[in-house]
Amino acid sequence: MNILAIETSCDDTSAGVIQNGRSILSNVISSQIEIHSKYGGVVPELASRHHLENINFVIAAALKKAHLRMTDIDALAVTQGPGLVGSLLAGIMAAKTLALIYRLPLLPVNHIEGHIYANFIEHQLKPPFLALVISGGHTELIIQRDLAHYRILGRTRDDAVGEAYDKVAKLLDLGYPGGPVIDRLAKQGDPYFVKFPRPYLPGTYDFSFSGLKTAVVNYVSKLPSAVRHPRTKDIVASFQQSVIEVLVNKTIQTAQKLKMKKIVLAGGVAANSALRSLFAAKIEKTGIKLYYPSPILCTDNAAMIGCAAYYRFRKKKLKYHQKMLTFKAEPNLQL
Ligand code: KG4
Ligand code: ZN
Repeated sequence: MNILAIETSCDDTSAGVIQNGRSILSNVISSQIEIHSKYGGVVPELASRHHLENINFVIAAALKKAHLRMTDIDALAVTQGPGLVGSLLAGIMAAKTLALIYRLPLLPVNHIEGHIYANFIEHQLKPPFLALVISGGHTELIIQRDLAHYRILGRTRDDAVGEAYDKVAKLLDLGYPGGPVIDRLAKQGDPYFVKFPRPYLPGTYDFSFSGLKTAVVNYVSKLPSAVRHPRTKDIVASFQQSVIEVLVNKTIQTAQKLKMKKIVLAGGVAANSALRSLFAAKIEKTGIKLYYPSPILCTDNAAMIGCAAYYRFRKKKLKYHQKMLTFKAEPNLQL
């Protein structure tokens, strides 16, 4: 079964073909980083306009790379939400148009579900497991009991973890997106140079990163720039240490408390190298297994959407019907 999937929830225009749920024939990602970086974050109006300009080319490239034509495609999948409404609409309109022309079944997919399913592409993974979804818009601890059954245990009360990375990078003039730059710079820094707070929110499964971000802002504002510049790598390493200690300790404790034997990382921040190492070190003697996708499948991409759709197509054996074209973009879609 060949699924053509489309993902345009934020600032990446992506289309890909996934065969039988796990084999990626193509996964084309057209990034808009250059456009948004001069503003220090995603500008929604610019994002939707560039999706519209690019989407047909990205879909054509995905088919070409897979050596397939539209007539070889069995089904379509597209991100319905959560995300920026204008961005989501660009992908949804393209998917609905193709479904109508080629009479193909079309499944709307939850973006968060897609991030989690990125793990199914590369691993033989079966629920139940505890998922930590960490991206620019999300920080959630989720129990997945079976293929489509989720329970959100906790989430961030303020900033998403990727958002905190992006804001700290912006404060230190490191560019956008901040996560990959801080990941790189922190490798040369001292993670214990500044002891920033560890926001554990004990007794809850929730997270909070805005206080930590403010602590970095306060620390940096007191430093003369001649002192600050040579210490940038130590400051970002210290910020990152605080973030990853909280994420790792809280997730492992939750898994132990709920007797979950598997932890699954998902979303852009799951690409972070220090986070992966700390998880691997702390999980070693617990008997819990750790899963995470390759970095390219952590950040937004269409293959993960195609994978999530495959497991639902398989369950329901869907056929094209006009009613399939009535769903709307849902910027606040819940799991
Ligand atoms: O999943 P994603 O591509 O988009 C959303 O759904 O939000 O995640 C993007 C976020 C950005 O905040 C970016 O700074 C962060 O993921 N990110 C990272 C790394 N790569 C991307 N954060 C930390 N370390 C990384 N290596
Ligand atoms: Zn995402």
